Amino acid sequence: MVEAKFYFGVPQDARTIRDEVFTLEQGFSDDIEYDEHDPECWHVVLYLDSYPIATGRVFLEDPETGHIGRLAVRKAFRGQKVGTYALKFLETKAKSLGARKLMLGAQLDKAGFYEKCGFKKNPTGEIYEEEGVPHILMFKTMKIRKRKANEKAD
Ligand SMILES: CC(C)(COP(=O)(O)OP(=O)(O)OC[C@H]1O[C@@H](n2cnc3c(N)ncnc32)[C@H](O)[C@@H]1OP(=O)(O)O)[C@@H](O)C(=O)NCCC(=O)NCCS
Repeated sequence: MVEAKFYFGVPQDARTIRDEVFTLEQGFSDDIEYDEHDPECWHVVLYLDSYPIATGRVFLEDPETGHIGRLAVRKAFRGQKVGTYALKFLETKAKSLGARKLMLGAQLDKAGFYEKCGFKKNPTGEIYEEEGVPHILMFKTMKIRKRKANEKAD
């Protein structure tokens, strides 16, 4: 069974996955990987039968915009919609924080994945580099269901 847990501040299970994926597999340095946002982000970890398989984080860039990042699925679990599932949890968390929009910096060769999840590339098309890896900003406007007049507030 896949279970999602949220943590405020980066938990050890997220570090384990990020070290494996971003540092070892992709070669990012620790100084770049762990930044000033980490202690103030909500981090999600997905567990399969208690084994951590994916992580990601979100913080409010401004009161309306959730900034998603560090989305990583362990290699053996890719291609099974785990990334999509983790992203959905982050979107829901962003909504609960009051966000109406989402942004993220995608590695250019991952943009297709985010497009399948409803994100659109920065219309300027501007590409920037992080440690030599090309990235592009991507955005999504979330659908917010309006409460009907006869529905009670939570
Ligand atoms: C990118 C990543 C999170 C995707 O997670 P995943 O669980 O493998 O992806 P999913 O199975 O949810 O894929 C959903 C859809 O996106 C597609 N997709 C996945 N990776 C893709 C890519 N790099 N380019 C284009 N499409 C991609 C899948 O084929 C699937 O398409 P479908 O709906 O038509 O079947 C995962 O590959 C990963 O962790 N990579 C290493 C870390 C990383 O680079 N993170 C992103 C940093 S920006």
